[in-house]
Amino acid sequence: MIVTTAQLFKHAYGKYAVGAYNINNAEQAMGLFKGCISSKAPFIIQISKGARKYTDKKMLEAIIRSADEIFPEAIFAVHLDHGDEETCYDCINSGFYSSVMIDASHESFAENVAISKRVVDAAHKKGISVEAELGKLGGVEEDIKVEEGHACLTDPAEAAAFVQQTGCDSLACAIGTSHGAFKFKGKQSLHFDVLQKIKNLLPNYPLVMHGSSSVPQDEVARINAAGGTIAGSMGVDVNEYLPAAKLGVTKINIDTDGRLVWTRVHREFFRDKPAEFDFRPPGKIFIEEYAKFIASRNVLLGSANQLDDLRKSLGNK
Ligand code: G3H
Ligand code: 13P
Ligand code: ZN
Repeated sequence: MIVTTAQLFKHAYGKYAVGAYNINNAEQAMGLFKGCISSKAPFIIQISKGARKYTDKKMLEAIIRSADEIFPEAIFAVHLDHGDEETCYDCINSGFYSSVMIDASHESFAENVAISKRVVDAAHKKGISVEAELGKLGGVEEDIKVEEGHACLTDPAEAAAFVQQTGCDSLACAIGTSHGAFKFKGKQSLHFDVLQKIKNLLPNYPLVMHGSSSVPQDEVARINAAGGTIAGSMGVDVNEYLPAAKLGVTKINIDTDGRLVWTRVHREFFRDKPAEFDFRPPGKIFIEEYAKFIASRNVLLGSANQLDDLRKSLGNK
């Protein structure tokens, strides 16, 4: 069942974070639904601009509608990840998306406010909620490059003013994470001090954490042992997901880790079976491995086993 992102946030706020997982194809969709059903977790499907172009935006929509029929127990929202203004309007007008993200974080504060507010006004007319972003994550945000070492954390006072001026429904904050597999040079923690200040100024307001893959080191080691060259990659400490959720982070974005599962499965498969050239055998392994990975993340986010209670609270409306 597709619900609004707002409904998911209302149930999760202060207790757990909803996992927001990117999909690009049917195999990822199958693994995601299977993992969320087995762990009894609500979830958010994220679709990036790149994913919409990879096959076709209509293809992804059809895959999600079919998955909804195949897994009638699932409760989830559909979200545009890192949208520009034009893509936001396309998703708002499509009637399919539960929410959109307008990412104008690379603009000045005033321009970010102006763009985000235009999107909020258009989205709210159609009952769709909007995630906006303030502050800059390190690493690569689609085509937006932020120089390493110059990641700029969200200023709490600015965050409060931004929400007030735009009317956005949730805010992606920069609190020390970055996109991709190379987040930190050494061990590093989230900036809980900044998060606490944002929460104090925006009580009961859903915050979003991008760049939250954990880049499991055993996964990286297996990929490298099977011919990969991603040494030195490092991600977020999974033990920091729940403490962040208790401080108002209601949506945690995980994409890179799923790509690592895909890479490990396929590298190992073709290393061990060099004469194979059928995509279905490794595809099936990927679906099962991705489902296991998703279920494990939902446990760490606290969203596992929330499905029945959420269903009850939605029914009681
Ligand atoms: O933050 C970006 C997401 O990981 C999506 O990545 O733009 O390559 O689909 P993508
Ligand atoms: P990761 O690269 O850490 O998976 O972050 C994904 C993300 O933020 C998608 O918007
Ligand atoms: Zn992101």
